[in-house]
Amino acid sequence: MEHELQRLTTEARDTLATLQDIDQLEEFRIRYLGRKGHFSTIMRKLGTVSQDDRPRLGQLANSVKAEIETLFKERQEILLQDRKTTQKETTEDLTLPGRKPALGRLHPVTQIMNEVCGVFEKMGFSVAEGPDVETDHYNFEALNIPAHHPARDMHDTFYISDSLLLRTHTSPMQARIMENREPPLRVIAPGKVYRCDSDITHTPMFHQVEGFLVDKQVSFADLKGVLTVFTQKMFGEDLALRFRPSFFPFTEPSAEVDIACVICKGQGCRVCKRTGWLEILGCGMIDPEVFKMVGYDPEVYSGFAFGLGIERIAMLKYGIDDIRLYYENDLRFLSQF
Ligand code: FA5
Repeated sequence: MEHELQRLTTEARDTLATLQDIDQLEEFRIRYLGRKGHFSTIMRKLGTVSQDDRPRLGQLANSVKAEIETLFKERQEILLQDRKTTQKETTEDLTLPGRKPALGRLHPVTQIMNEVCGVFEKMGFSVAEGPDVETDHYNFEALNIPAHHPARDMHDTFYISDSLLLRTHTSPMQARIMENREPPLRVIAPGKVYRCDSDITHTPMFHQVEGFLVDKQVSFADLKGVLTVFTQKMFGEDLALRFRPSFFPFTEPSAEVDIACVICKGQGCRVCKRTGWLEILGCGMIDPEVFKMVGYDPEVYSGFAFGLGIERIAMLKYGIDDIRLYYENDLRFLSQF
């Protein structure tokens, strides 16, 4: 019996070492360690050996069985680990291209703002910025719009207090810069402005770029030249534009510039209110009263100024027929640009 035990142990050890998968391991367990397996059969045979040999052989059988059980567990662990690794290898295709994280991009209004500023910078204008919360003085008084002037009604102003407001246009930057600097000046002032206004061509917050040039002998022809070059650079040489007489208290004479509506190609649509034209900016020769308030001599200096609406230009550039789309934060819309 001792001999049989030794033979069985060697055979079990060798077999275990050759097992390659969990199914074979299970067969081994049933064959050697199961209730009807080789070791159980030997244990049952112990009853037939002599009383003298039984304790020694019983002890030997138990220790051999324990050893095989330990080896079995070790092999089981190795095979389970192998199975996990193989499964991983088959489910993960390492040759697949990686997933790109969604990248942010500049808002279309920012893109147009950068483009507009770039055109003027190339024409020699420097860039200045001012506060969104403005005083009544700079927003109105310094621009020749005293209290109770009817022109105040043209701006649907958000007031913060009697003397503070959200600037309704970037024109206050004319006064802020001129009172601190001497001509010649060639400046643009981009920024946000606010008006209580909302429809397909108006939003309560929008962007303007103010521009002004002050020197000796500046004429309306200079203004027309600069703005014509600007519109050609932005929209190409074929696009029709027109200067339409208008009124601003801080410029005289004043005009508005319209561009042929790119949505309907001048045929008339809801965006251009059936006129075929869309207004993009206001402009004019700086009023002598404004010069006097900043201490410039209007007999010596003249200049022009303009204020253009960036969202309007972005609508025309991209053929968008409702300005409010820019501010609905719909990524399907914004990611097209
Ligand atoms: C002004 O704001 C003047 N400060 C412009 C100016 C500057 C005139 C210097 C003379 C000299 P106006 O209110 O027309 O003008 O606005 C200028 C442009 O801003 C308009 O042509 C239009 O393109 C745009 N705009 C005006 N209101 C809105 C609005 N609610 N939403 C979007 N764009 C607007």
